[in-house]
Amino acid sequence: MSRLSAPDRLSDAVSFPGSTAPLTTWGVGGAPKCLVTPGMADIAEALCWLIGEGVAFEVLGGGSNVLIADGELPVALLATGGLDMMEVSLYGEKIAITCGAGVKLRSLAALCAKSGWSGLEFVSGIPGSVGGAAAGNSGTRRGAINEAVTRIQTAGPDGLRVWEANEIAWGYRSCSLAGRPNTLITSVTLELAVSTADAVRARVREVAAERAAQPLGKNTAGCVFKNPPGDSAGRLLDMSGCKELSIGGARVSPKHANFIESAAGATADDILSLSLLCRRRVHEVFGIKLAYEVKFIGIDEHLIV
Ligand code: EPU
Repeated sequence: MSRLSAPDRLSDAVSFPGSTAPLTTWGVGGAPKCLVTPGMADIAEALCWLIGEGVAFEVLGGGSNVLIADGELPVALLATGGLDMMEVSLYGEKIAITCGAGVKLRSLAALCAKSGWSGLEFVSGIPGSVGGAAAGNSGTRRGAINEAVTRIQTAGPDGLRVWEANEIAWGYRSCSLAGRPNTLITSVTLELAVSTADAVRARVREVAAERAAQPLGKNTAGCVFKNPPGDSAGRLLDMSGCKELSIGGARVSPKHANFIESAAGATADDILSLSLLCRRRVHEVFGIKLAYEVKFIGIDEHLIV
């Protein structure tokens, strides 16, 4: 396979890793055609280059909600890690924070707790990046990130574009700006309320207590499946006997059946096969076909629909 050649201005942003395992929380993933990690100043140029070269690409955020196939991938990866700016402005009792898509949700939550800014307590403990959280409308039972979002900037074939809150349609783990061809979220503006560090930390502790039933400290990608309306995928998987299941280096978490843990040596194929087996079990027992919450890169669409 011939290597792509990046223009000089992008040469620092383009690399050719043999594995993307270090970039994902499952610790698996093969070799992309190239990995592009631009900063805000060269995101438009990076996008133009990929589109101009006719290279199919996928956006990689914090790597916490994605399964990347093993081996040689048919796509390039455009990573948001370099989009890490943060701008804060205070107006009255409100705070507006504009975060580059690559800002870690955990850093943002920590800043909010330290500063006493309220409105994102429910995201504390969710891994991943702000851009990924917006694209997947990450959240918990207490709320989702869309409740705080006032504006999103995207970069696409037509350049940079700003979307106001009323132009964005949100659903359970979905955002209308995700999945647009050759487009990525570059920054997200959130509106928070001025509170106190003690009050914010108290709410963060309540949220953390709810996570005690999840396999913290293990290599997982958060919940694998979305909850079907009115039910919990974790409960359905558990009642279908999935906590007993493992394939290769992947096993269903004994703590919470909607998490798959990967051990050293696990492959994307182990994780995919195990998730498909779990989904089949739930279908056999309850007649419900669970929809994936995790995103896939380089994996045959037919397997996962
Ligand atoms: N349950 C079982 N067995 C299991 C897991 C859960 O019986 O193995 C039962 C629990 O006992 C509880 C019910 O199922 O009665 C719901 O479980 P839980 O409270 O853990 O919530 P969940 O619906 O499984 C959702 C989100 C989580 C979020 C928690 C807490 C989804 C798919 N999951 O989980 O989000 O942390 O609520 O707010 O929406 C994620 O999206 O990646 C994620 C981890």
